[in-house]
Amino acid sequence: MIRPAIPADGSFLADMVVEAANWRAGSTRPRPTVLSDPVYRNYIAGWQRPADHGVVAVDHDGRAVGAAWYRLFSPEASVHGFVASGVPELIIGVRPLWRSQGVGRSLLRALTDGARANGYARLTLSVERDNFAGALYRSEGFAVVGSRGDRETMVRSLR
Ligand SMILES: CC(C)(COP(=O)(O)OP(=O)(O)OC[C@H]1O[C@@H](n2cnc3c(N)ncnc32)[C@H](O)[C@@H]1OP(=O)(O)O)[C@@H](O)C(=O)NCCC(=O)NCCS
Repeated sequence: MIRPAIPADGSFLADMVVEAANWRAGSTRPRPTVLSDPVYRNYIAGWQRPADHGVVAVDHDGRAVGAAWYRLFSPEASVHGFVASGVPELIIGVRPLWRSQGVGRSLLRALTDGARANGYARLTLSVERDNFAGALYRSEGFAVVGSRGDRETMVRSLR
């Protein structure tokens, strides 16, 4: 089941930021290290601000297993996927045991629907070039609009 994210989900969303930072097999950056990185911290600090919107996938017992959310940033913010003011950046993560079972795609679709309903014209994200998630994003309508080092910025039009 997918439900809207609420302020009390902040700690779980931070877990998902840590998962995203450690997506590569064998990467075990500790939670405090990831969350003290200014870029990763920007994706979660102060959750939930008025313009923040997210969705959480829960198991049969109501435990969170994955989440996707978006946040607006200013041009000065240290983030990976900024393209323009007013274009929110998407972040997504699924707990390891629940991956490759359709949770991520369902979260992406729910979040995209939410962004469109909230009047946004585009969503942006950033993904490392060799992360399979890039193929998932492409299959959901995101296209590469630029690259920064080993990362690609992808944007989806919601119109
Ligand atoms: C990326 C992530 C959110 C995707 O969620 P997921 O629940 O695993 O993805 P899904 O099961 O919905 O799979 C979507 C597609 O990805 C592909 N896929 C899934 N797992 C894969 C794997 N291990 N290797 C290659 N492709 C894979 C499949 O092609 C699938 O397409 P299909 O529906 O045609 O079968 C999740 O794997 C994750 O949290 N990974 C670690 C953190 C991360 O990389 N976050 C993103 C940072 S940009």
